[in-house]
Amino acid sequence: MARISAARIAAKAVDEQTIVCIAAYDAPTAGLVEAAGVDLVLVGDSVGNVVLGFPDTRHVSLEMTIHHTAAVMRGTQHVHVCADMPFGTYQPSAEDAKRSVARLIRETGCQSVKLEGGRQWYKTVRAIVEMGIPVMGHLGHLPQTAGLRPKREHWSEERTTGFVEEAVGLQDAGAYAIVLEVVPTEVARATTEALDVPTIGIGSGPHCDGQVLVLHDVIGLGPELPHAKRYAEVGDTIRAAVSQYAAEVREGVFPGPEHGYD
Ligand code: KIV
Repeated sequence: MARISAARIAAKAVDEQTIVCIAAYDAPTAGLVEAAGVDLVLVGDSVGNVVLGFPDTRHVSLEMTIHHTAAVMRGTQHVHVCADMPFGTYQPSAEDAKRSVARLIRETGCQSVKLEGGRQWYKTVRAIVEMGIPVMGHLGHLPQTAGLRPKREHWSEERTTGFVEEAVGLQDAGAYAIVLEVVPTEVARATTEALDVPTIGIGSGPHCDGQVLVLHDVIGLGPELPHAKRYAEVGDTIRAAVSQYAAEVREGVFPGPEHGYD
């Protein structure tokens, strides 16, 4: 079975169902989320704060993204894999963006890339799409420039209109889908209705064409966040397992005779 294509996602639904996306960063967890039936794995630059211990996403380099995206590709066979373009890899110029994308695609085999921001990147999105590489847009809260913690903000009618226009502009530049991060529910609904390509929401209510969450937030390995739901407490499971291992080593219970190669 071939991987899910950007074109299939761009049709606003995969198998006539809401698009399910998750951010994951390594081979075993990407394999698990694929087995669980997600459509799209985003190798988000959230890898910086979620697994690499950085205070924000700006510390993530192209090399780190290549390293993690290649791992996700090795761990999966069917999901669509989209790599997040790190801070500084597309901002200087469209030429820089094209060079970064070429490395991402050549060295990982991923299928599409994502970049944050609207109007100022239309030309860049167009240039990447002209290379034949699908681009996912990202509007609303933009962690690369605004930091990790979104603020509650007032959205005037004028701001909403401008936002919807910006999303349409991104679509016209060639984006095959647009992430809406921490956008008020009704603004997300209006944007979704105005677009032919799908919106993929995070903290933006139920009216998007898809939803994305970070795996670690879903399984209880990250801090509690207002927009995420914890479906498991894997952190507790790991702590309990490792403390039992430590106790058994100290008590001489592990390793037992069955754990040797005699
Ligand atoms: O980096 C990331 O994980 C993201 C998603 C949360 C949309 O950009």
